[in-house]
Amino acid sequence: MPNDIVTNAPLEALSTFRLPARAAELARLEDVAGLPDLLDTELPVLLLGGGSNTLFVDDFPGRIVVNRLRGIDSEVLDRDRVLVTAAAGENWHELVRWTLDRGLWGLENLAMIPGLVGAAPMQNIGAYGVELAHCLESVEVFDRRTGRSERLAASECGLDYRDSRFKSADRDRFVILGIRLELMMHGTPVLEYPSLLEELERHGHASPEDPRTVAAAVMRVRKKKLPDPGLIANAGSFFKNPVVKNPVAQDLVERNPDLPSWPDKPGCTKLSAGWLIDQLGWRGKSFGGAQVFDRHALVLINRGDATGQDVLRLAREIKASVHERFGVELEPEPLLVGGSV
Ligand code: EPU
Repeated sequence: MPNDIVTNAPLEALSTFRLPARAAELARLEDVAGLPDLLDTELPVLLLGGGSNTLFVDDFPGRIVVNRLRGIDSEVLDRDRVLVTAAAGENWHELVRWTLDRGLWGLENLAMIPGLVGAAPMQNIGAYGVELAHCLESVEVFDRRTGRSERLAASECGLDYRDSRFKSADRDRFVILGIRLELMMHGTPVLEYPSLLEELERHGHASPEDPRTVAAAVMRVRKKKLPDPGLIANAGSFFKNPVVKNPVAQDLVERNPDLPSWPDKPGCTKLSAGWLIDQLGWRGKSFGGAQVFDRHALVLINRGDATGQDVLRLAREIKASVHERFGVELEPEPLLVGGSV
């Protein structure tokens, strides 16, 4: 067994939802050269970044490897484009700040998303009208099948709404080592998200010329709506916004004219899960220590003493009530380790 593996390790501090669970083994990946040894075990292996999108609803009977690979670099491609390379263990928001400090456009709408860089391609992080897919050039991975590192072009990563081949079809096959982004020196702001545009207009910045202005507005909107994981344990949105066939959406919107909806893939519409849950009066409701955040119905929080069972029970009740009232199936957004909804 490689050195520095802790057995029966507590996981509470490794996930922003802070549930009490333990892993049979816990190790840190500080250097890529140590990866093959860390993967060489009969136990199931789970790679973990900042734990902002993973809930340990039960103990994990395997080895957790926490990604701590560091490094950010850039290369100017031409008069407009800059290639930024970041290791998977870098903090996402620190990377956003690094690019903003250099006046680069591309990540400004994705400011303040908790977690590490490696989680970004895993679920194609997105906020305020932008997804990672907009500027991802490639992902460096270690392929457990071949035992080799390689670079996958963004088009090979199966990126979709909060999804990728790393999260679904090829789950557990690749270890994400780093990403490459193509950012712009002269960009155009993406301001289609109503709450972001309103916030910029309120500050007299309807046509921002600096990505830092956009990022500052994004941060103000996030602070108003979402709990700070440093203060209140949570994992962001607990459910994905459901994508349904257009006739289903039309019928729902006719009966519920306030239901926010957005065009999605051809023939499909995305519905606001937060609105659906909110309509059923879930804000502030709790089971044990798990609660629906009182300012945003899509966010579940841990009041401090939640167990995995509390979270599963609350999430199952929400899901069942939305299905019963609206006929819509909600799917969890974070990875639930040791249980399902
Ligand atoms: N809404 C309600 N009641 C609520 C919450 C929301 O009616 O309690 C309505 C709002 O009024 C708004 C709509 O729902 O019209 C959408 O709300 P919001 O702008 O907060 O966005 P969201 O769809 O709930 C998604 C992402 C967030 C991301 C925001 C902004 C998902 C699952 N979530 O939330 O991402 O920050 O858009 O782009 O797609 C995350 O993934 O963890 C996350 C926080």
